[in-house]
Amino acid sequence: MMSSTLADELKNRRPENVKILCQLLSIPSISADPQCADSLHQAAATLSELFQIAGTGWSCEVVATAGYPIVWARYRASGNRRRAIVYGHYDVQPADPLDLWTTPPFEPTLRDGKIYARGATDDKGQMLTHILSALAWMKSAGQLPIDLDYIIEGEEEVGSENLERFLAEHRDELKADVAVISDTSQYAPGWPAITTGLRGIFACEVRVHGPRKDLHSGVFGGAIPNPIRELTRLLSLLHNEYNEVQVPGFYADVVPLTDADRAGFAELPFDQAAFLAETGAIGLRGEAGFTPLEQRWARPTLEFNGIYGGYTGPGPKTIVPASATAKITCRLVANQNPDVLMKSLEDFLRSQLHPSCRLEFTADHGCPAFLMDRQSPFLQAASKAIEAGFGKAPVFIREGGSIPVVATFKRLLEIDTLLLGWGQNTDNLHSPDEHFLIEDFHRGTLASAILWEELAKV
Ligand code: BES
Ligand code: ZN
Repeated sequence: MMSSTLADELKNRRPENVKILCQLLSIPSISADPQCADSLHQAAATLSELFQIAGTGWSCEVVATAGYPIVWARYRASGNRRRAIVYGHYDVQPADPLDLWTTPPFEPTLRDGKIYARGATDDKGQMLTHILSALAWMKSAGQLPIDLDYIIEGEEEVGSENLERFLAEHRDELKADVAVISDTSQYAPGWPAITTGLRGIFACEVRVHGPRKDLHSGVFGGAIPNPIRELTRLLSLLHNEYNEVQVPGFYADVVPLTDADRAGFAELPFDQAAFLAETGAIGLRGEAGFTPLEQRWARPTLEFNGIYGGYTGPGPKTIVPASATAKITCRLVANQNPDVLMKSLEDFLRSQLHPSCRLEFTADHGCPAFLMDRQSPFLQAASKAIEAGFGKAPVFIREGGSIPVVATFKRLLEIDTLLLGWGQNTDNLHSPDEHFLIEDFHRGTLASAILWEELAKV
């Protein structure tokens, strides 16, 4: 078990750790917004400064990429030791709509035991726990029980498109036994979890063009095609009344859920009324024949993320607009190929398009799903660490979000990833008033500190 000096060290460091978190959270590192470029570099520099103070055995590089830099910190001690890769991201989602925040998104504020800021849980707060736990080890024991590589990137929220190249280039140096990521959630308050599956994703934009420019709807309307009408007609073809996606071949490669998978999901308590209350939706609308957990964790979906076109300002304006656009993402499950399915979607839309309109299809990022080997001995080590940190053994769950690097670690480095979520689904990630429970931050830091020891023992 953990030495009392390490436990004391962690306790004593709590105020300082919260201060470091607040410092990182005040940097508006929104990867989707080019105006934030300086902040992304600043976040990378702030992290690298943290590693500079770690002491003997540590090195840290801020590695330039075609996009935002990767912070790569390494800890090496002598001898043949276990090695883990810790991944996290310092970029965050856009903060809008700003008027729905109680306090500004980049002015971290403590309220009711929670720290409020964009990135509090996703992922600055969670990622930081693994750095702070290592610093505590260094301070109290002068060394760590395993070797570590930290890879902290600034493009996760926009699809991690420059990360694979870095991993491929440094593949030999990055040999490791297992990867660790805290960028998921607990199952529920008081129910810590290990996530053994994530969905994949692909993202695209579909634009329908009508006339060259906006035209008077009285003079031209009736004879000229309306691109909003055509776009919405196309979009309405993409699901049927059972909420099944209608793109040909969409489900072709899906491996059906086993009885054991379904039984495992069914064992978890799920309160539908609470789920609806939490989201504010007044009813469910998922794929027929599947439970809500199955729909969210283990079935593919096609979602409209945004739609615009024509005049959206105040008051009426009588035009036939020139174009209309929809942003679409599909969540994928194990064995589905994002590139193949993106092409199937494009082909289907083109085949259905009215000949009076032109369709522009822009492919964006994509990554496959992840399913962990449930026999991995590292799962038990992680369970012990979580039990010690959170006072309760974790449940095994899957989650519906995506973390592109996880599939890349498996394919390129042939390692599994321990997805150890310290946050809660109700932390408002990607939403206004994102927050992280200070207690979850400290418990996660403790679990992380114990994890290094448990991994060494495997
Ligand atoms: N931290 C999330 C992923 C997540 C959240 C997984 C909650 C499980 C539970 C991550 O930062 C994220 O949002 N990823 C994007 C990936 C995409 C932009 C490639 C996502 O899932 O939308
Ligand atoms: Zn994240």
